[in-house]
Amino acid sequence: MQNTSLIDLDRRHLIHPVTNFRAHEKRGPTILTEGKGAWLRDANGNELLDAFAGLWCVNTGYGQQSIVDVAMEQMQRLPYATGYFSFGSEPAIKLAAKLVELAPQSLKHVYFTLGGSDAVDAAIRYINYYYRALGKPDRDQFISLQRGYHGSSSVGAGLTALPVFHRNFGLPLPSQHYISSPYPYRHPQGADPQALIAASVAELRAKVAELGNDRVAAFFCEPVQGSGGVVVPPQGWLKAMSDTCRELGILFVVDEVITGFGRTGPLFACEAEGVQPDLMTLAKGLTAGYAPMGALMMSDAIYQAIAEGAGPETPVGHGQTYSAHPVSAAIGLEVLRLYHEGGLLANAQAQAPRFEQGLRDLLDHPLVGDARSRGLLGALELVTDKANKTPFDASLRIYERVGQAAAQQGVIFRAFTDGNLGFAPALCYTEAEFDLLFQRLRATLDLVLEQAEVRNALS
Ligand SMILES: Cc1ncc(COP(=O)(O)O)c(C=O)c1O
Repeated sequence: MQNTSLIDLDRRHLIHPVTNFRAHEKRGPTILTEGKGAWLRDANGNELLDAFAGLWCVNTGYGQQSIVDVAMEQMQRLPYATGYFSFGSEPAIKLAAKLVELAPQSLKHVYFTLGGSDAVDAAIRYINYYYRALGKPDRDQFISLQRGYHGSSSVGAGLTALPVFHRNFGLPLPSQHYISSPYPYRHPQGADPQALIAASVAELRAKVAELGNDRVAAFFCEPVQGSGGVVVPPQGWLKAMSDTCRELGILFVVDEVITGFGRTGPLFACEAEGVQPDLMTLAKGLTAGYAPMGALMMSDAIYQAIAEGAGPETPVGHGQTYSAHPVSAAIGLEVLRLYHEGGLLANAQAQAPRFEQGLRDLLDHPLVGDARSRGLLGALELVTDKANKTPFDASLRIYERVGQAAAQQGVIFRAFTDGNLGFAPALCYTEAEFDLLFQRLRATLDLVLEQAEVRNALS
């Protein structure tokens, strides 16, 4: 049984991320105790099939002994090395070089962070510095996508375009602007990929013209929008947006915090469309969640302009105690080895059609209006009326009902408040685990459908 005093201590003292405080006090935590491969165990001894890789990060699966070994070895040898005062450590240098070797060719320099939010924050800070170094301080406006998620730092959360990250936080800032999400299921042009891409391009051009051609610093986007409900734009969308930014003379920043490290098939989603971003943010799959680490990669042109702007003596004032942490870096190197030599990328690519088909097969379920995926990143969208794509009324709290039913079925995925269900299984998933996932998922949806309020809401 779960330890009641632990639960009580959690309720009293631990603030959970993006959680309703009062609801959590009532509900209490589900304490996780162990993990192996795609499986988690909770303190009540329940075995849970994790179809969300923790928080879209444990791409290798849990319990990879070789990661534990390199972490232990690095901890014993040198648990910490500052990057300040020109100190460094072997794993951090090797990891930076490895990322430059593997990432799009445009990216030549790496700044390590602790996660994704501070990678985005670093991007914003370096971009501001860059334009001032170029003598263009008026280029201080930022554009991102509706439904985009770029973390929850005090400025980056304004590039995030999800209402709960703004409400009562004084965001977005006047310098933060949005264009429509490339959301095929709900976009007026959604049925025709080329029309949707053209609409996004036209909207970006119009937004830049509205703000002033010399005012926009950068456009930020995710190749597949994760926390916004797993919105999968058509193939070619990312390239079209990148080409448009180049043409408009604004920086193109790709946030691959979720899509990086094999989540959508290739190591980086940019690869699939030959996109060469000016900056790229990474985290999650970089260390597969075994230790905190993120990264900001930038082009040589940006790096050189910042270096010139600083001159020969003044430091560029951006830093963190744990930037380039040697234990996280050693883990990152081993995780990268597992993606390639350990066969994880190949397995994920081989399993992706099964994952896609499994989601599509659920389109026959009365609750499911849309199924979409790229690689091992996917979603189902629940609606009350398939013809009109009507979302569930918020008062029904469909996400809570789905979450409870999923717990009963022993499966973990993300039920968003708007009726989207997000999936990001680890890259080590076997065929048998996918079969079990889809059995449990159908059973979960059936349980929800048994509820009279839910059935009555369907038209
Ligand atoms: C695309 C994207 N950017 C940034 C972040 C923020 O990363 P972190 O939670 O590590 O700060 C996330 C987290 O989910 C993300 O999905």
